[in-house]
Amino acid sequence: MINKRVEEAFNIQINAELYSAYLYLSMAAYFEAQNLPGFANWMRVQFQEEQFHAMKMFDFVNERGGRVILTKIDGPKVEWENVVDVYEEVLAHEQHVTSLINNIMDIAIDERDHATKSFLNWFIDEQVEEESNAEAIISELKLIDGKGNGILMMDREFRARVFNPAAE
Ligand code: FEO
Repeated sequence: MINKRVEEAFNIQINAELYSAYLYLSMAAYFEAQNLPGFANWMRVQFQEEQFHAMKMFDFVNERGGRVILTKIDGPKVEWENVVDVYEEVLAHEQHVTSLINNIMDIAIDERDHATKSFLNWFIDEQVEEESNAEAIISELKLIDGKGNGILMMDREFRARVFNPAAE
């Protein structure tokens, strides 16, 4: 049976993951409106990844005999200044998510819940990757000063990104 504090933390985190999905879908809509279909595709993949994260936690809570309680998802931001502004928000958001995951890990350690610690290791690793991806894109965008042919080349490259649950 799942520990009550851990169950509560996962229910909050499922909402946070679904909010992340919603935020990235909003960024996809922004890029569609900017005629950047590759960047929009990158965000759609991100949207799928976040739903996958939420469902991984949903399944874990159920597997351990807990009860998932879904709550209202806040509306995401809808406008940004430019491409760099969007990715700076991606990085800040992922850094925030990392702190949320670390917080659940602290609770699991505190409660001596070894199964949850083991489960969360995947998310700890995933957050390293999420932050590193955003940082790499921001560096690239800064190199090309966020505009011109460089943006079009990145947009073309991002068209190829696909969601791969097996690699998750
Ligand atoms: Fe679910 Fe992007 O962290």
